[in-house]
Amino acid sequence: MGQLFSSPRPAPLPPKSEEAGSSSGTLPQDVSPPTAATPDSLSILTKAKGHYWYPNDGPRILDACGGAGVACIGHGRDEVVKAAAAQMKACSYTSYAHFKTTAVQELSDWLIESTGGAMQKVYLMNSGSEAVEAAIKLSREYFIWTGEPQRVNFISRSESYHGTTLGSLSASGHHTRRLPFGPLLPSTFHKIPACNPYRQESPSPEAFLAARLAELESMFQRLGPHTVAGVILEPIVGAALGCVPPTPGYLPAIASLVRHHGALLILDEVMCGMGRTGTLHAWQSLSVVPDLQTIAKGFAGGYQPASALLVGSRVATAMREDDKTFTHGHTYQNHPVVAAAAMRVQRVIEREGLLGNVRRQGVILKKLLRERLGKHPNVGDIRGKGLFWGVEFVRDRKTKEPFDAREEVAMRVWRAARGRRVLVYASQGCAGEGRGDHIMVMPAYDVSSREVGKMVERIAAAVEDVFPI
Ligand SMILES: Cc1ncc(COP(=O)(O)O)c(C=O)c1O
Repeated sequence: MGQLFSSPRPAPLPPKSEEAGSSSGTLPQDVSPPTAATPDSLSILTKAKGHYWYPNDGPRILDACGGAGVACIGHGRDEVVKAAAAQMKACSYTSYAHFKTTAVQELSDWLIESTGGAMQKVYLMNSGSEAVEAAIKLSREYFIWTGEPQRVNFISRSESYHGTTLGSLSASGHHTRRLPFGPLLPSTFHKIPACNPYRQESPSPEAFLAARLAELESMFQRLGPHTVAGVILEPIVGAALGCVPPTPGYLPAIASLVRHHGALLILDEVMCGMGRTGTLHAWQSLSVVPDLQTIAKGFAGGYQPASALLVGSRVATAMREDDKTFTHGHTYQNHPVVAAAAMRVQRVIEREGLLGNVRRQGVILKKLLRERLGKHPNVGDIRGKGLFWGVEFVRDRKTKEPFDAREEVAMRVWRAARGRRVLVYASQGCAGEGRGDHIMVMPAYDVSSREVGKMVERIAAAVEDVFPI
């Protein structure tokens, strides 16, 4: 979900504090929910093919974001369509409680193997929010099984997005998306600052890391370490911050602190995972292994709504040894057609060596974005990894002052880009408390250098439309 597609302006804003139990105080005057691109103002899409969208009211549009970072092998690949159709013919549905299917079995085995066996169980679902919700619930149930029912707290980070359901939204720090729902979000979810070197200045990398660890340790101490069930993080932060990778050493150090206190490390790879940053799982290049992992988006590339919760050895072993069943299930869990489509998308990625292409094109994308926009007076930072790049806009490069949220800078760039026939993903919140504008560039993994060049040219032109120099 991006700002673009958020629900219309929620009226009236809470009078005083953002939400019950929030420590964030009053709502900044310049934070308002997005107003543009409400569903009524959107064009009707007649077709999407390859790396282009075809709306009914204008020329085709180059896809530089895969919708919401989803369409990882482009649109309309025949072989995926055929695989899904064949599965529909063979068996279009069964309840996960009644039968296993070969489609789900094959996909689960492949996923487990893709982690080198670090992950040992798979729950196949349909959206990122569901996978995160399941991770929260499984953490809770794990500690009931293992005799620590007092572990009810979760720690996550302030600029983060983990989903739209009440559990996953509770874990999320994304200010604007939480805003109307504060009273419904339980007080067992606690926030520490994100890892954002652009805005958290520090005299040295060592001091930076020590500060982030101290924030986590102090939260553990405040709650009582034995009350914490899990710490949930996006290894590379997506919509809430705009593609911010962790600093070197951050994730391993966080992981060891989490484990020192006996809690579970939950990595939310819904957006940054499944190849987006150049390895199949983002953690594989970040020297860390999660206890629970969520995936979605690039998993089935949008051909079917697919997500999964992957369960690491600590929890899987407890389940096996004590013969425990997770008290959780959706009607469409383990859907065979979803599995068939996801498997075929992953086979395409393997056969065409697309993770290598993500790494190669990522280098080009980074270089071109920095060449074309790196010196723009209203571009504060360009960061990312693989084919996952964010451009943050500021009023003043020196002070890093963000724009007033009501100026809707990210939306204006999005609109200008649309006018230049390229689609990007626009969001707000990267400067904290709902302030700060950024766009995200997330092309398909099979993008060519020529297309990357075209995307950057159009995006740079759109930025200059909004901020002439
Ligand atoms: C990191 C992350 N987690 C969870 C979600 C929620 O996924 P969904 O929108 O499929 O429910 C998102 C969506 O953007 C996400 O980026």
